[in-house]
Amino acid sequence: MHPAELILVLDFGAQYSQLIARRIRDLGVYSELRAFNIGADEVKKIAPRGIILSGGPSSVYDADAPLPDPEILGLGIPVLGICYGLQVIAHQLGGAVDPGARREYGRAEVVIRNDEDLFAGFDGKPATVWMSHGDALTRAPSGFESIASSDNSPICAVRDAARKIYGVQFHPEVVHTPRGNEILRNFAFTICGCRGGWDPGSIIRMKTEEIRAAVGEEKVLCALSGGVDSSVLAVLLHEAIGDRLHCIHINNGLMRMRESEQIVELYRDRYHFNLKYVDASGEFLEHLRGVTDPERKRKVIGKTFIDVFEREASDLGGVRYLAQGTLYPDVIESTSFRGPSHTIKTHHNVGGLPERMNFTLIEPFRELFKDEVRAIGRELRLPAHFVMRHPFPGPGLAVRIVGEITREGLEVLRQVDEIFIGEIRKAGWYEQLWQAFAVLLPVKSVGVMGDKRTYESVAALRAVHSTDGMTADWAPLPADLLSVVSGRIVNEVRGVNRVVYDISSKPPSTIEWE
Ligand code: XMP
Repeated sequence: MHPAELILVLDFGAQYSQLIARRIRDLGVYSELRAFNIGADEVKKIAPRGIILSGGPSSVYDADAPLPDPEILGLGIPVLGICYGLQVIAHQLGGAVDPGARREYGRAEVVIRNDEDLFAGFDGKPATVWMSHGDALTRAPSGFESIASSDNSPICAVRDAARKIYGVQFHPEVVHTPRGNEILRNFAFTICGCRGGWDPGSIIRMKTEEIRAAVGEEKVLCALSGGVDSSVLAVLLHEAIGDRLHCIHINNGLMRMRESEQIVELYRDRYHFNLKYVDASGEFLEHLRGVTDPERKRKVIGKTFIDVFEREASDLGGVRYLAQGTLYPDVIESTSFRGPSHTIKTHHNVGGLPERMNFTLIEPFRELFKDEVRAIGRELRLPAHFVMRHPFPGPGLAVRIVGEITREGLEVLRQVDEIFIGEIRKAGWYEQLWQAFAVLLPVKSVGVMGDKRTYESVAALRAVHSTDGMTADWAPLPADLLSVVSGRIVNEVRGVNRVVYDISSKPPSTIEWE
């Protein structure tokens, strides 16, 4: 099912292609990402109001350069090429792209030569934009005019107003192009004629219809971890199929303080979902004994999860569909636009389950970002406490205890985390952060308490700002807040005598320690 107003983004492999679709959705127009090689016939069927060709790491001269079906540019649908997308337009319509051009990365000033449509509202003023390209356009195809230039790129934006084909060398989708949203808005509204009105309520209507159409009268199983994604997913599924939704919450023993109780309280006792609670903590901790390698931990947890889930799910009998709250950043870190590629971390905790149990996957959030899922959760009136929860990794506290996981270590970490998060909430910082948590280090240090020498563990605190988890900056929490937290931890948690604050950003670090 497609909404009447849709802008299609063709993915040429830029890491942030989906960001373009997301920016368009933020403007109130539905947008989705498709592989670059979608056929012109398929595009005609979808009948988008506009098409955006994303950036990408290739050169149009590469032997295996991703190129779109050439007929797409002749469909009469407005097109905007971004960076590599612009070079594709030039390449297919007879312009010239110079592969030996000077590379340009970072901020640049562009002079706007025409502000009739794409740059409407710029009033001829120069604009700051974000460049990230190797090849550059040296001759626009016939019918095109240059509408912006920079010192390095004399042709850095072009248009063929008659055919409604536009291209920009820079990236309007990133925050480093401050007026980028205006450019995308001009494309969507002025050039493509969209009217807007797409909102979380529309996503819910579209997704519930899709879910109903996909599963018919069948049952759907959902592993409810209690995180934002699975919580919102379960409520959405319940909205779509009611009691045919069956949830399982597996307590893997790696949850934070009182987390499992809160999940059961909300979903079973308050929402009256079909929820099966399984305490498998003993089994998980048994399998994790002696495991210290981070990827090994994830594999052990993933496999144990599958075993437990399989056992518990088979009791329900005859369930064909499994719902997962996979988000776009999970997809991008595990695959490439050409297929599976280098995986930074094994994020898919339930990976392997669908094939083994013959499940068909339902992943309604696959193209969405976390804050879009939060907006859906708010619209579905999920308690703020659940909607605004910080992300929590599937392997839970196991990746926040560096080294071997023990019951004692988990208990210590839970208390440290509870104090840290409690104080952050009290100080009004919680909602401002993407994520905050504590890590227990396998390091002991000397301290002095009363008149006694101590030799106990070190806890690290981490708080980061991020918009999607793909990059992150450490948060400069106020010194007096950190001081209260550290004082409380050392005084109240037995086994910790030193607290340190993590001041690393991603990249080059990751958000989690393991
Ligand atoms: P990193 O540590 O890779 O984390 O910078 C990015 C975001 O992903 C979360 N994360 C995970 N989520 N399973 C998950 O479900 C995992 O194995 C996993 N590892 C990291 C992390 O908390 C952050 O929000």
